[in-house]
Amino acid sequence: MATGEPLIVLDRVNKWFGPLHVLHDVSLSVDKGEVVVVIGPSGSGKSTLCRAINRLEPINDGTIVFDGQPLPAEGKALAKLRSEVGMVFQSFNLFAHKTILENVALGPIKVRKEKPAAARERGLALLDRVGIANQADKYPAQLSGGQQQRAAIARALAMQPKAMLFDEPTSALDPEMVGEVLDVMTSLASEGMTMVVVTHEMGFARHAANRVIFMADGQLVEDAPPTEFFANPRSERARDFLSKILTH
Ligand SMILES: Nc1ncnc2c1ncn2[C@@H]1O[C@H](COP(=O)(O)OP(=O)(O)OP(=O)(O)O)[C@@H](O)[C@H]1O
Ligand SMILES: [Mg+2]
Repeated sequence: MATGEPLIVLDRVNKWFGPLHVLHDVSLSVDKGEVVVVIGPSGSGKSTLCRAINRLEPINDGTIVFDGQPLPAEGKALAKLRSEVGMVFQSFNLFAHKTILENVALGPIKVRKEKPAAARERGLALLDRVGIANQADKYPAQLSGGQQQRAAIARALAMQPKAMLFDEPTSALDPEMVGEVLDVMTSLASEGMTMVVVTHEMGFARHAANRVIFMADGQLVEDAPPTEFFANPRSERARDFLSKILTH
């Protein structure tokens, strides 16, 4: 559901880790409501790209604009950006000593200064939305990986983000739990959430993405709608990558 209004705009972004050039003149614009799937070989810079968008990684050159504003470097503006850009990682990163509901309500109470009762009520509604309202009072270790990842998604949504970044959200899951997490992501996408999703789940890319980005060696090599990308990848590297991941 792309709207034609840019929300995330990267312009000739460059990033080095010491001598290693990990993002190489990356330019990318993601519209409000758009779902962009990022694929590419290990080490191509996919995680770095995600982390740069909510400024977990500073960049060396180029610009990133979020919702009309250049990314802030620090202070309150940075905290605001982080709350507006939800992030879900491969490892669920829940607080082990807090219940699922406490995990979800914590950000709204601490950062958004919501009243605890209201934050818990909204948190419960979010847990219901991701299908785990009945797990609210358990601790993360008592949940399956798929349930923990859905809790992590609910926790990010509790901040009422304008965009969500997912970095291989299903790669650490047992196969039978991948579907339940992808279902939540698919429904978020259909509700109009702006999403950047690093994933190897090509079914999700085909069905939920507006565009597929292929990265290799820190460069954005292809940027095309999924039907076009899968039917007719233009670069040799993308063809090679697809032949490897689609044959098993
Ligand atoms: N903090 C860091 N310090 C030094 N090098 C790093 C750091 N983080 C990542 N790199 C390097 O930057 C390159 C890009 O890493 P990145 O994690 O973005 O790749 P990726 O595409 O997400 O790979 P994967 O599919 O394995 O997750 C890699 O060569 C990686 O080793
Ligand atoms: Mg990665």
